[in-house]
Amino acid sequence: MTLTALQRDWSGVHSALAPAGPQAERIDTLWQFLWIVAAVVFVLVVAAAFWATFRRHEPIANDPSLVRGTSRRTYVIIGGAVGASVIVLFVFLAADLAAGRRLTDPPPSPLLVEVTANQWWWEVTYPAEPPSLQVTTANEIHVPVGRPVVVVLRSNDVIHSFWPPSLTGKRDLIPGQETSLWFQADSAGVYRGQCAEFCGHAHAKMAFLVIAEPPDSFAAWLAAQRDSARTPADSLTRRGQEVFLSGTCVMCHTIRGTPAGSRMGPELTHLASRRTIAAGTLPNRRGHLAGWIVDPQRIKPGVRMPPNDLEPADLDALLAYLESLE
Ligand code: CUA
Repeated sequence: MTLTALQRDWSGVHSALAPAGPQAERIDTLWQFLWIVAAVVFVLVVAAAFWATFRRHEPIANDPSLVRGTSRRTYVIIGGAVGASVIVLFVFLAADLAAGRRLTDPPPSPLLVEVTANQWWWEVTYPAEPPSLQVTTANEIHVPVGRPVVVVLRSNDVIHSFWPPSLTGKRDLIPGQETSLWFQADSAGVYRGQCAEFCGHAHAKMAFLVIAEPPDSFAAWLAAQRDSARTPADSLTRRGQEVFLSGTCVMCHTIRGTPAGSRMGPELTHLASRRTIAAGTLPNRRGHLAGWIVDPQRIKPGVRMPPNDLEPADLDALLAYLESLE
């Protein structure tokens, strides 16, 4: 597997120029229109500059424009250029407003997802009635293909910005003020999103994935996420659970079905089902997970998670336990 194929496997498509839904397509169309018009204006301006530089100059005495008055001709040219610029800018403004308006049209029967930004990760919640059916995960938003998704955005600390460029535009997450946007994925795939507002030390390592899948796979995923964590089935994973529950892990993380219930850090009930760790920083593989648990600062400087100086046997058991949390 090449590096790019490997990256595509876990880090997803990330380009506003590769739209995968109606919103991103509208933004892409707007962008195409803006850049084509801007390119034509650029070519005209450069051509005019060349013409002015290299045209044959009449001797001043023979220049009829001087006889009739240079100022009138100059005024016409400058006035025409200003008028054309104003018209082009107004057309841009109108196209921008029209695109923005279509992005905010409320869709019928959307799926509701709540995303809460934290320094530097995303909590993702699927509200349900009764609330015991609610699903909470982190840094990964599963959505069904072809269905509009309304994302309610909140922040627990500073201003972040939610941006999956292949699916829709940016929206800020502001502490104390709820915002929302909606998008729709038209084809199955893994789309990468990134925090697009500088929010502190680890801002660059605050990514997320939108995983669009056929409606029945999405329903199966949601049903599996509702379950409590798997009970350790052998002595190694039992030992791993003990390490987890007797160490500092419980002070920040939740694993449903165990006494661990803190919401400071990402919920780990189904950690092994996720593609990445540390908000899209690394693929979720045993070696990366081990490095992350032992010294997270080395991987993501500034992260709130402390280092964990575990005995090798305890680390091995903890890894086996975390890997069993599918
Ligand atoms: Cu969160 Cu930048």
